[in-house]
Amino acid sequence: MNSASSDSSFIPVLTIDGPSGSGKGTISRLVAQRLGWHYLDSGALYRAVGVAAGWADLDLADPAALVRCAFDTQIGFREQAGELRVLVNGVDATDELRTETAGAAASAIAAIPEVRAALKDRQRAFRRAPGLVADGRDMGTVIFPDAPFKVFLTASAEERAERRYKQLKDKGVSVTLDGLLREILARDARDAQRAVAPLRPAEEAVRIDTTGLGIDAVVDQVLALLPAR
Ligand code: DC
Repeated sequence: MNSASSDSSFIPVLTIDGPSGSGKGTISRLVAQRLGWHYLDSGALYRAVGVAAGWADLDLADPAALVRCAFDTQIGFREQAGELRVLVNGVDATDELRTETAGAAASAIAAIPEVRAALKDRQRAFRRAPGLVADGRDMGTVIFPDAPFKVFLTASAEERAERRYKQLKDKGVSVTLDGLLREILARDARDAQRAVAPLRPAEEAVRIDTTGLGIDAVVDQVLALLPAR
């Protein structure tokens, strides 16, 4: 492949980083739809490795096994009835990926530098014309540092716990608000304090606090950052 055909740096990327529950997933998907751009849910890659590690009964305290798992796990995305389904080693694991167990496993393995390195190229491969909306923790800082548009979404921990509580209750999952708040604070601390790619805004990222804002208002604020189309 010659360098001209493999150079994707001219393809625009909008990075949307932030902690869990900040509304990143919903906002990113809607913004991608409105722009007609591709969408990368980078958390799903970490969750997929976490789920695959669970299936293989790997020890979350064994980094070498987890790194092998990150390299070996096949992760595919498929649009079905307007929903993005995630295939892990060929099996539809979308629902399992969303559980708190998968999130906690993802957060633990995401702290291993070699796991992050193993997933780097897979994430960059999502940069395809006409553009990409990339949702995660380190999209603007590490994976797409040259992205022309960067957003960092926040919301109070209490509001994030409440959003998650409503989502889980709607699905019939029984959880307590207090327990969720504790989990969110613990995950924030782990994601922000890890040595590699900690959760932090890129310097040039536009910060949007979504506390008390509706989805449409946030989508509009994000779209307003891009040149008029
Ligand atoms: O966005 P999420 O909740 O699906 O992410 C699950 C975990 O994966 C989160 O706790 C931290 C990790 N993660 C990461 O370290 N880097 C990313 N770009 C995305 C997710």
